[in-house]
Amino acid sequence: MTAFLPPADRQGPRYARITGTGSHLPPQRLTNAALVAQLAERDIETSDAWIVERTGIRARHFAAPGVVCSDLALEAARAALDAAGRTSADLDLIIVATSTPDMIFPSTACILQRKLGVHGCPAFDVQAVCAGFVYALTVADAMIRTGSARCALVIGAEVFSRILDFEDRTTCVLFGDGAGAVILEASDIPGILASELRADGRHADILCTPGTVAGGKVSGDPTLKMDGPAVFKLAVNVLEDAARNVLAKAGKSESDIDFLIPHQANIRIMQSTAKKLKLGADKLVVTVDEHGNTSAASIPLALDVAVRDGRIQRGHRLLLEGVGGGFTWGAVLLEY
Ligand code: ACO
Repeated sequence: MTAFLPPADRQGPRYARITGTGSHLPPQRLTNAALVAQLAERDIETSDAWIVERTGIRARHFAAPGVVCSDLALEAARAALDAAGRTSADLDLIIVATSTPDMIFPSTACILQRKLGVHGCPAFDVQAVCAGFVYALTVADAMIRTGSARCALVIGAEVFSRILDFEDRTTCVLFGDGAGAVILEASDIPGILASELRADGRHADILCTPGTVAGGKVSGDPTLKMDGPAVFKLAVNVLEDAARNVLAKAGKSESDIDFLIPHQANIRIMQSTAKKLKLGADKLVVTVDEHGNTSAASIPLALDVAVRDGRIQRGHRLLLEGVGGGFTWGAVLLEY
């Protein structure tokens, strides 16, 4: 681990900047047709046409039995470290955004730290469901700019397949597993320009996994519950607000955005946000078709896809937007 070095001027670096991205999808890819066939065996009726038309999802990846969140996070972390030209020994902060941790405790970040073969640096999880990655990135940005860290690993990793109720067609067709990671470093070159985090606990019940562990047993229902239409309505409104607020904070306008990378839950929500911001389809990064909703992993997964296929280049301005259970939401505007 790099020793903690307070910045020379004690003011902290001007920016936290992404120096590498990585991602990982478990090998098992399940098309809508394959999932529909499996659900039919349980007398659950759905169709490829319904899933595509209502959500834009065509396939998702599911982790094999025994594969846990930190396993996916480890692969994504290695890819991001490689891309940044760093090793795990350079890290002085690890944050994992997840709602499907390996265990109740220790945190998935601590388990990941061990799998990365390092120890000593702070490591913790952030739990803000599908807004988790923008929450984690904002925390890491603040820690870097105040001089508490210089080289952070920030990950969104999920195994949502583990908390799905395969008797509930309104939710089980929507989600997938995966992980995305970035290395965020202190820099004088522009990186994160502004961010905004929000939450409204009054809506906790519209999207939740209400089970817990008590008295040595699972207490309550440990599978995901969602009032889809209520979430849809809220998401469309808060994402526009968050985008406008973060642009105003950075002194930028809609036309300064090169790419919008929203949480990948539903193509209709994503297109509606892009339209409100007057962004054409070429500026919207879409992976929901191939990944499904991977919750906290969806934004860094989409980011990595667009970096690796060459769409996102150094200097491009990116708007990342997350929204999820809690209700939580947020946006980060950055220069890549
Ligand atoms: N197959 C076939 N029919 C279905 C299915 C299915 N898989 N699921 C629901 N239906 C039926 C319903 O029963 C209903 O039938 P009815 O009209 O006879 O009652 C009909 O389809 C319409 O159902 P709605 O729920 O109104 O469908 P809607 O168009 O709202 O789409 C969806 C549902 C896709 C869930 C949408 O509401 C949505 O995307 N919501 C937002 C999800 C989201 O953004 N989540 C983000 C955060 S996720 C997180 O934080 C973990």
